[in-house]
Amino acid sequence: MNDKFYITTPIYYINDKPHIGTATTTIVADVLARFYRQRGDDVLFVTGTDENSQKTVDAAQKAGEEIVPYTDRLAAIWESTWEKLGISNTDFIRTTEPRHLETVIDLWNRVDAAGDIYLDTYEGLYCKQCEEFKKEDELVDGLCPIHKTEPEQVREQNYFFRLSNYQKALLDLYETNPEFVAPANRFNEVKAFVERGLEDISISREAKSWGIPVPKDDNQKIYVWFDALVNYVSAVGVDWWEQHPADIHCVGKDILRFHAVIWPAMLLSAGLPLPRQVIANGFLTIDGVKISKSLGNAIDPLELTATYGNDALRYFLLREIPYGEDGDFSKTKMKERYNADLANGLGNFAARVLTLAEKEELKFSELDEDFARVISTMKLAVDQKTKAFRFHEALAAVWDAITFGDQYVNEQKVWAIEDATKRGQALFNLTSLLDNLAAVLLPYLPDASRKISAALVWDHDVLKAKKIEVLFPRAK
Ligand code: ME8
Ligand code: MG
Repeated sequence: MNDKFYITTPIYYINDKPHIGTATTTIVADVLARFYRQRGDDVLFVTGTDENSQKTVDAAQKAGEEIVPYTDRLAAIWESTWEKLGISNTDFIRTTEPRHLETVIDLWNRVDAAGDIYLDTYEGLYCKQCEEFKKEDELVDGLCPIHKTEPEQVREQNYFFRLSNYQKALLDLYETNPEFVAPANRFNEVKAFVERGLEDISISREAKSWGIPVPKDDNQKIYVWFDALVNYVSAVGVDWWEQHPADIHCVGKDILRFHAVIWPAMLLSAGLPLPRQVIANGFLTIDGVKISKSLGNAIDPLELTATYGNDALRYFLLREIPYGEDGDFSKTKMKERYNADLANGLGNFAARVLTLAEKEELKFSELDEDFARVISTMKLAVDQKTKAFRFHEALAAVWDAITFGDQYVNEQKVWAIEDATKRGQALFNLTSLLDNLAAVLLPYLPDASRKISAALVWDHDVLKAKKIEVLFPRAK
């Protein structure tokens, strides 16, 4: 039996279609899903849509559509965008599905049975865009720092979750699981937040028409975050989760507290096992401003992939911005990296080697020592860096090997080696390097990897190389 590996993305709000910010988190999850699949794990990879939000109601109204057809239309856009981007998710969950509704009610009842839910009055601020209760001191000039909008003042009867009961349990969890949150600097922020003390949180909204009803109270809907977080269990079912809770929740830094504080507290209360790890990317920005559906500065990933291909978008996002940090997106930078690293780098190297090797019958032999070393260094680096979410370093290590291969072709003037044995050995070195590049790049650049692998075919102990179409045509 293969090991199971369960990885998730956030379920995204459907007030608009995907942009390159939401694509960043989904692509990271896809790289990890493909990486563990390549290592033989049985990978469950879940993404989906968070539909029971007031944002959905507002967006449907703005579009002049009925809410249910609106949710169906938007969910279909999200699902098909990931498919077009080559995302290898094995499930797609919508929070309006019965399987989710049932699980949310089950969780609520478990938490209630544990004595962790009570009715009280909530008075304070609420940011509709964040779907989050806010404190005065979190605002900047009276505005939500992320959405630059004024939160609304609310006073209502709400059900509360006794989050304060879980401070010690959470601190113990962090202490005994030093990898629970990555990167480490984000983990420190989470710990400091919990150390300052936790207050109970409101988990219902009064007199809202849209959302999952609170059991036995017709006037209350379950707070969208209490609902949304449960999707990770709904997708697999409670029984499955009890055996295999998520290995990795991929999120953005804006929703880390929900995943690293509230979610484990909910699971502890419900008597369910905890996810192994939560990892958070930083923000993709444009001129320093977070790309966001609410802010209207979105770039459609499909527009970029129409020009450059899916691999190029993955490459840019993972190579340009160290995981966990914020990074600015620009089309100019994307084009520069594309031409330098993909068209001239990988693409050109693959074309050179395959063109030279195509005319030869290459017998299996021993690799030259320096090639053996370069290949094993690269494989080790990709393995370690990927597991540590240092994707940009994993890719840098691959490009070091490409540079080495290119230099070898130039220095040895491989195209001009007359001695057949020497030429055969040189080309064996190069095709082996290329074969290994395709293998380590499988999670990162699945399209290019597949094309390169298909161009290198072993027939018993003879390697036959075929020329291939240009992998990355130069962009003008
Ligand atoms: O928060 N840069 O959904 P959401 C990087 N429904 N990542 C970004 C980004 C950016 N500019 N913009 C968005 C929600 N993201 C909830 C989640 S999960 C139980 C419920 C990514 O549509 C990032 O992962 O606002 C962020 O956390 C997520 O999209 C928020 O997506
Ligand atoms: Mg958001």
